[in-house]
Amino acid sequence: MVAYRTQSGKHRVTLDADDRGPAEYFHGRTAIRTMFRQFLAAAERSRRGTTFLVQGAPGAGKTALLDVLSRIPSTSTWMTVHINARALHDPAWMARELTLAAQGLNLAGSQDAGPVYTPDPSALAVKRVLLIPPPMDRGLLLILDEAQTMLIQPKGAPIPDTLNAIHNGGFGYPVVLLAGGLSNSKTAFATMGVSRFRGGNLVNLGRLSGESERAVIRDWLVLAGGARGDVDPWIDAISKETQGWPHHIVSYGSPAAQLLKLNGGTLPDQDWQAVLNFGRQRKREYYEERASEIALEDLALLGGAIRCFGKDRQWSHSQIVSVLEVARNADPLETKGIVETMLAKGILAGDMRTYHVPIPSMEDWLQERFAAAMQASPDVWRDIFESIKAALRPAAKGQFGFSGQAGG
Ligand SMILES: Nc1ncnc2c1ncn2[C@@H]1O[C@H](COP(=O)(O)OP(=O)(O)O)[C@@H](O)[C@H]1O
Ligand SMILES: [Mg+2]
Repeated sequence: MVAYRTQSGKHRVTLDADDRGPAEYFHGRTAIRTMFRQFLAAAERSRRGTTFLVQGAPGAGKTALLDVLSRIPSTSTWMTVHINARALHDPAWMARELTLAAQGLNLAGSQDAGPVYTPDPSALAVKRVLLIPPPMDRGLLLILDEAQTMLIQPKGAPIPDTLNAIHNGGFGYPVVLLAGGLSNSKTAFATMGVSRFRGGNLVNLGRLSGESERAVIRDWLVLAGGARGDVDPWIDAISKETQGWPHHIVSYGSPAAQLLKLNGGTLPDQDWQAVLNFGRQRKREYYEERASEIALEDLALLGGAIRCFGKDRQWSHSQIVSVLEVARNADPLETKGIVETMLAKGILAGDMRTYHVPIPSMEDWLQERFAAAMQASPDVWRDIFESIKAALRPAAKGQFGFSGQAGG
């Protein structure tokens, strides 16, 4: 729990688990919702399913989106089962999850009382467990959040072919895996033997559109906080700091709602200031937490590169590598590890070819890390800065583009 005392010392605002998980006030992502609806319809028609993967940085809104998408299918045509990565490795675990879900369906309505779904837990392969369709001819929608954890498996365990089977849809009835995970999830899938996604089956989740962002902030202020009067100036001020990033929006919206409620729908100057302070503090904490496993020096190097070549860039793999190698004896394995950690923690997003820093204010924060390093050891870092410039120079001739992300 994060507590923050307002300047007046009058109120304490807290942010329990508000800033993660299913959204209280969900807006946007309409193109993705339509895409997923069509995706399910296609699976029903062809009686074959495949994977639908949503990947993105922490706080981009994957879990909230998965929650909204999981409510789309009608329970009369789909059985929805939330699984964790273990179910993909362990047939008995998958059987347990499916059995519980099927029992839930049968309990829910006597109309639906079909055969109880009892897969044979002794089936050796998860794939065989999935050969048994759910009751009443339903499709099976498996939902897996934090998909990147698939890679954490018992030592020496063979890579199961479950994922491949689901991805290629050979069960005779529609099986769809809706997965969410960090930006390295596609790579995690590739390690598990699934490397190709059809167009439209892979979403790189970026920031919310301006319009959706404003709608979410408005709901926090008006619906949650009971704000009275014209809230547009507050929305303007907050969206300038949140830049469409769902996690940030909640970091300002939730404290604003709490203080509005305490003040009967208004925000005295001091409390408005407290909202801004709270949000800014949460943003910083969020970046620090993302970066806790990354050396300050590496953050500063990245910040130096941004300083050199500007924000909102796509970086090639070799550019990132040459920047990280500027200040150390190049050890390819070590550098690869740093890039992977940056991807896993959402400091970088992208595939293995191009990367970008996913949030503009995170780019500012990285530049501050560079400025801090420069201030601490000006001589060293002036040289480093020149080396970064030199390392990136050959690529500076128009190889950069703007980052493209799915949003809305
Ligand atoms: N489209 C949205 N509209 C409103 N709030 C959202 C939206 N997407 C995410 N949120 C909220 O933003 C915060 C971060 O989202 P979350 O789904 O936990 O991110 P992730 O799973 O990508 O780390 C949560 O509080 C969530 O409820
Ligand atoms: Mg999540």
